[in-house]
Amino acid sequence: MYRLAISHCLVSLSLWLTLPMSHADDQEILPSAIAPRSTVTLKGPISSWRERASQWYKSDDLKSRRRQMRQMSKPLKRPCYYCHTRNFKDYIDSTYLISLQMMAISSEQDLKCADCHIGKRGLTVLGAKSLIQWRYAADQGRECSDCHQDKGHFKRLNERGERSREELISWLDQHGSKLKLPSQTISAFKQQLSIKKSLNEDIPANLGSPHLPNKDKSPPTHRQR
Ligand code: HEC
Ligand code: HEC
Ligand code: HEC
Repeated sequence: MYRLAISHCLVSLSLWLTLPMSHADDQEILPSAIAPRSTVTLKGPISSWRERASQWYKSDDLKSRRRQMRQMSKPLKRPCYYCHTRNFKDYIDSTYLISLQMMAISSEQDLKCADCHIGKRGLTVLGAKSLIQWRYAADQGRECSDCHQDKGHFKRLNERGERSREELISWLDQHGSKLKLPSQTISAFKQQLSIKKSLNEDIPANLGSPHLPNKDKSPPTHRQR
């Protein structure tokens, strides 16, 4: 009896160990990612980013701003001194501008730092997609608001954005491998773009939005193999 129980245990244990991890294939699968060590910033003068970043605060009061700052520290798992000098009189150069830009886009898209950051360089699914888009925008001198509607959590595109999928796919074909992201992350995002692009092609073309100028010399590749 006793031996039977043990062998039963062993059988179910080995079964469990060999069982493939089940994935819901029809769901959006995009692994979260680790951001590369070196970051890039978007174009534009610091003064304008400062102004946009100031929209992030819920209050003018210094005390409540200090409290709100914990929403930055916590998801990043970084101390205040990651961005501020010890006496809080100055900022750390390497994190200042990108933090301002992050505050700005977070408030403009109505997102929290924690929607994209999970500790140090860890990124959520939304964060991983943003990394692709961030690098693309920096490379092409674009703004997120060129294509995304305000306060839409990056889920809502404007007309220009709706017409930009092909360009994004061809940019990814050329630069995707340099992003040091897991290849599934890139291919899943490309797939997302391709599916929506073909859906869009079914819509009558009388929407009349201007095409984005395609700076790439090579013809865009439409679909992944
Ligand atoms: C990821 C970077 C980062 C972290 C971490 C961070 N801060 Fe900040 N902090 C900033 C930036 C950027 C600003 C805005 C600077 C500006 O407007 O020029 C700011 C602004 C502030 C302000 C408002 C200053 C003002 O003049 O209105 C206070 C207060 C503050 N931080 C305190 C803290 C405290 C306390 C912590 C730790 C709990 C912290 N910060 C963590 C980057 C950071
Ligand atoms: C929509 C997603 C998204 C949101 C929201 C977001 N971030 Fe980021 N953040 C990123 C991505 C992607 C990178 C990597 C950029 C790169 O590597 O060029 C990044 C990089 C950073 C970096 C530089 C890398 C590092 O860890 O030192 C800081 C600092 C940062 N974010 C702070 C913040 C703060 C503070 C907030 C909230 C005010 C925030 N982020 C909100 C996506 C996001
Ligand atoms: C040239 C146009 C364009 C620009 C500029 C752009 N995006 Fe996008 N973005 C898109 C398109 C197209 C999609 C795909 C949307 C879809 O699948 O419906 C997308 C998707 C995303 C997504 C995924 C949303 C989701 O939930 O699936 C994120 C996050 C994102 N963009 C962030 C950004 C950030 C951050 C910036 C600025 C640094 C930016 N984008 C700039 C066109 C653009």
